[in-house]
Amino acid sequence: MTPSIRKATTDDAGALAALAAVTFPLACPPSSSPQDIAAHLANTLSERHFQAYLADPDVTILVIDASGELRGYSLLVNRPAADRDVVSVLEILPSVELSKCYVHPEHHGLGAAADLMHASLKAAADAGGRGAWLGVNSQNARAIRFYEKSGFRRVGTKSFRLGSTVEHDFVLERAVP
Ligand SMILES: CC(C)(COP(=O)(O)OP(=O)(O)OC[C@H]1O[C@@H](n2cnc3c(N)ncnc32)[C@H](O)[C@@H]1OP(=O)(O)O)[C@@H](O)C(=O)NCCC(=O)NCCS
Repeated sequence: MTPSIRKATTDDAGALAALAAVTFPLACPPSSSPQDIAAHLANTLSERHFQAYLADPDVTILVIDASGELRGYSLLVNRPAADRDVVSVLEILPSVELSKCYVHPEHHGLGAAADLMHASLKAAADAGGRGAWLGVNSQNARAIRFYEKSGFRRVGTKSFRLGSTVEHDFVLERAVP
């Protein structure tokens, strides 16, 4: 059966945390320590955290659902950016943050991520955004290429702390359709 994209519900929190545990490490640079990755998962991507995201009226989570199994998700935050490095470079306002965009590795390269992006940009528009922005690790070449293919362009940089390491993210934005 073809996977479908739908809004997540509170029942998805546990499956989202399990999916995040598989996909978050793929976005980390090779130098990231397993301890830092595990701490980030425990501190921001546990079932409890997804329950809180799902209860937040400013947050939308979309999932790729393949016969009841979650194979990807995106998380949008419809709040003005707080990071000064981001605020200073965004040009298309109001802008919705595409805070997370993760697809299970078995579905990479098959178009599932493009479908998820399409739905995420529509959700950003529905939330009132004129633009969408995201941060992506500067070493995450696959994701950067994917975002460029999806119409994003690089407008700046910001820092991202993973445990004891400060990582450098590119800030990308695009107009929403
Ligand atoms: C980012 C992600 C959603 C993209 O989905 P995907 O199915 O891999 O995307 P696509 O295959 O459509 O596009 C990836 C592109 O990167 C290219 N690519 C793959 N590995 C690459 C590499 N090491 N260097 C440069 N480009 C690379 C692919 O060839 C493809 O480009 P092409 O279509 O021009 O050939 C998915 O890879 C993912 O979930 N990654 C792990 C989590 C992650 O990094 N999320 C982003 C966090 S900001």
